[in-house]
Amino acid sequence: MKKLLIISATPFSNFDLSEEIKVYLEKKPNLSCEIISLEDLNLPLFTPSLEIQIKNNNNFPKEITEIKSMLVSSDAIIWCSPEYNGGISPIITNMIAWVSRIGDDWKEGFNGKKTLICSSSGGNGNNFVKGFSIQLSYLGANILERSLIKTKKNGIKTDEFNEVLDNFDLFLKS
Ligand SMILES: Cc1cc2nc3c(=O)[nH]c(=O)nc-3n(C[C@H](O)[C@H](O)[C@H](O)COP(=O)(O)O)c2cc1C
Repeated sequence: MKKLLIISATPFSNFDLSEEIKVYLEKKPNLSCEIISLEDLNLPLFTPSLEIQIKNNNNFPKEITEIKSMLVSSDAIIWCSPEYNGGISPIITNMIAWVSRIGDDWKEGFNGKKTLICSSSGGNGNNFVKGFSIQLSYLGANILERSLIKTKKNGIKTDEFNEVLDNFDLFLKS
């Protein structure tokens, strides 16, 4: 059984998209899906000063160790996030910053993971997909070349939705 973690950057349309993806992929054999909504973690804002304070007091917030364990124990990750100002949403950047600072291996949790980037955005989300692909590649992720974009205006075509997720399922088995 492969473990798929779906990470939603918001509790709104990207969470809805995460749920649609989960419903579709759970019909595939040998795949378990879990969604995490990043706002629920309530992570503090990463600053170098706060990190020094936390490390000095040896009191890393448990939510950070928990999300890192979830990432590490997953076989694959699907990210659902809006595009913000032509880039990545700060809640994702913040989580990645924290996860990269616990333990000895800054890439752990991302490196080698089969990854799909999805977005429900106002526009076409292209800049988010491009920018986030560069970041996740730097962290060693194994990213499917296709992505799933849902726009406010056009929604998403069922055929395209199914095709990308079927491709991702095959990618997981490869
Ligand atoms: C700060 C901010 C910046 C945004 N910048 C963009 C953008 O560059 N491109 C885009 O397509 N939509 C942009 N949007 C719109 C969001 O992508 C859109 O509202 C999206 O549906 C929000 O996702 P949610 O429903 O999951 O919260 C922006 C929204 C916010 C709040």
